[in-house]
Amino acid sequence: MKRVTLHDKEFQVFIPHDEIQTIVKQVADEINGDFSALDEVVFLSVLNGSFMFTSDLVKNIDFSCEVSFVKLSSYQGTTTTGTVSELIGLSSSLKGKCVVVVEDIVDTGITLEKLYALISAHEPSRICVATFFFKPESYGKHIKIDYIGKSIPNDFVVGYGLDYDELGRNLKDVYKLVVEK
Ligand code: XMP
Ligand code: MG
Repeated sequence: MKRVTLHDKEFQVFIPHDEIQTIVKQVADEINGDFSALDEVVFLSVLNGSFMFTSDLVKNIDFSCEVSFVKLSSYQGTTTTGTVSELIGLSSSLKGKCVVVVEDIVDTGITLEKLYALISAHEPSRICVATFFFKPESYGKHIKIDYIGKSIPNDFVVGYGLDYDELGRNLKDVYKLVVEK
């Protein structure tokens, strides 16, 4: 099994590139069945992790759509509210449009919940969520995940956009942490 070392940790191949492409095609086919150009769809890619998934996904979308990129940044609030989230980089209006949030991975759902609230403020007609990976054992929120590439256990995965301390994003396969016995 192919292995890679990132920083101090070793990872082994979990999902090879070919299988990733099959998964992406399935997600795209589902979305193609649900929307048309009349819906005014904006694919909203959440950087950094989802850049590869977004790129492959939208190449398989067969209706005319927008593709936009955002980042969720956190900063310390000035009041006692603690960390505040902010949506940065949004370059087009979402008002009245169908937003398909494109995520690399939904784990606890904390990030998604923040995103959802920030996107809602832009008054889209509808918000859907597409994620490559979903960790059902960790997910603790009520937001519906409309399109799931693959549900996985609570293993730490890297590659295909996902990083371990900023390394591994460029890998075309997905790897999981090798747990030494
Ligand atoms: P949640 O849903 O818990 O996810 O808010 C927040 C972010 O955590 C990262 N994440 C991972 N990153 N491998 C990674 O490289 C993983 O297995 C993993 N699980 C969670 C990811 O940035 C996600 O957006
Ligand atoms: Mg992410």
